[in-house]
Amino acid sequence: MKHHDVIIIGAGAAGLMCAATAGYRGRDVLVLDNAKQAGRKILISGGGRCNFTNQKVEPANFICGNPHFVKSALARYSSQDFIELVERHGIEYHQRDHGQLFCNDSAKEIVTMLLTECEWAGVSVKLRTEITNIAKVDSGQFLLSTSNGDLSCESLVIATGGLSMPKLGATPFGYHVAEQFGLKVLPTYAGLVPFTWHSEQKQKFEPLSGIAVPSTITAKDGTQFSEALLFTHRGLSGPAVLQISNYWLPGETISINLLPNMDANEALAQALANHPKQSLRNTLSQWLPKRLVEVLFEESLLNMALNQLVHAQRDQVIADLHDWELLMNGTEGYRTAEVTLGGVDTNELSSKDMQSKKVPGLFFAGEVMDVSGWLGGFNFQWAWASGVAVGQAI
Ligand code: FDA
Repeated sequence: MKHHDVIIIGAGAAGLMCAATAGYRGRDVLVLDNAKQAGRKILISGGGRCNFTNQKVEPANFICGNPHFVKSALARYSSQDFIELVERHGIEYHQRDHGQLFCNDSAKEIVTMLLTECEWAGVSVKLRTEITNIAKVDSGQFLLSTSNGDLSCESLVIATGGLSMPKLGATPFGYHVAEQFGLKVLPTYAGLVPFTWHSEQKQKFEPLSGIAVPSTITAKDGTQFSEALLFTHRGLSGPAVLQISNYWLPGETISINLLPNMDANEALAQALANHPKQSLRNTLSQWLPKRLVEVLFEESLLNMALNQLVHAQRDQVIADLHDWELLMNGTEGYRTAEVTLGGVDTNELSSKDMQSKKVPGLFFAGEVMDVSGWLGGFNFQWAWASGVAVGQAI
């Protein structure tokens, strides 16, 4: 049986970062993955350009049952630390809205960088390996049965990610290991995911597919995001929708402000004063795409001149524009979700090194834990920071 100081299961963002960090500390590290390629999610991330971090990362950008849990790791490995690593490897990058940093060329550069770091740190990476059994023996070591033979280690790191995109090899493996060792796993939900229409809504709104507008979307708990909203064939998407999906629970409504940058009450009063005979349709079409206006409001209302509208009608139009309340059918689920909400309960883990409080030597890194970030490079920053926190401890 081959023995290693450390075995890391999962050659994704957190696993590779953790491996390089431990390897540089002189640990004998083996990374196992059942996929045929390392870092597959990195490769497709950010439309192939990988939004690898964000200029401004705060604990408030993360959702976790224990909001203090992320603080230590994020403070000890900042986005600036990752940017310096990217720069050392000569990877060119650019900044987009809201501090998001993307590769100029390709996400492949990030995977190559991580594998190069692993190689320099003396880490072995073994792909196409199924782990069929894990046991902890009296000596404190972990014994692993794998499709490539039996292995043992002092420290075992679970970095197998969440459930999003099963097509890319996402599995519940990490949750099963946690449960096997008696750790609590919180219910999981698809996060950063588009919403879908009810069949009635679909009939009405499907023709709007492709329209994007600025918006502010508010969840039931008051969380708000001001970004673009995109109508799709299946429902609603765009950054504002993906962000708010992290704060949405089935059966809850969302409120959409379709004119986040103006006061519809004032604008309508102004239009009434200047062009009293202008139709509501022509007035609203100056502010929103005409197709959207025509689907949102009744034909008879749109044909009215501004000076024909009674107060109640005007108030309703204003409410519909600033506080369009929608009950969506659901989300597209893990098939298209970027992250998984929930996971290994962080109350079971040390926030310093992500080691199980119950099972010494068992560590978790990355998305497998109950930590999910906003859209904008935060999920990768969590993978890097938690990977480093574990790598420094094992
Ligand atoms: P990750 O999923 O990266 O790695 C897990 C590894 O474990 C994989 O290599 C997998 O093969 C392996 N594994 C799983 N089950 C196994 C088993 N049973 N046996 C062995 N190995 C197993 N975030 C961001 O910050 N910026 C962005 O631009 C994007 N873009 C983006 C696009 C899309 C389409 C998705 C789906 C996700 C993103 N994300 C993102 C989220 C980001 O990809 C994600 O949060 C990190 O990859 C999580 O890193 P982990 O290392 O925890 O898991």
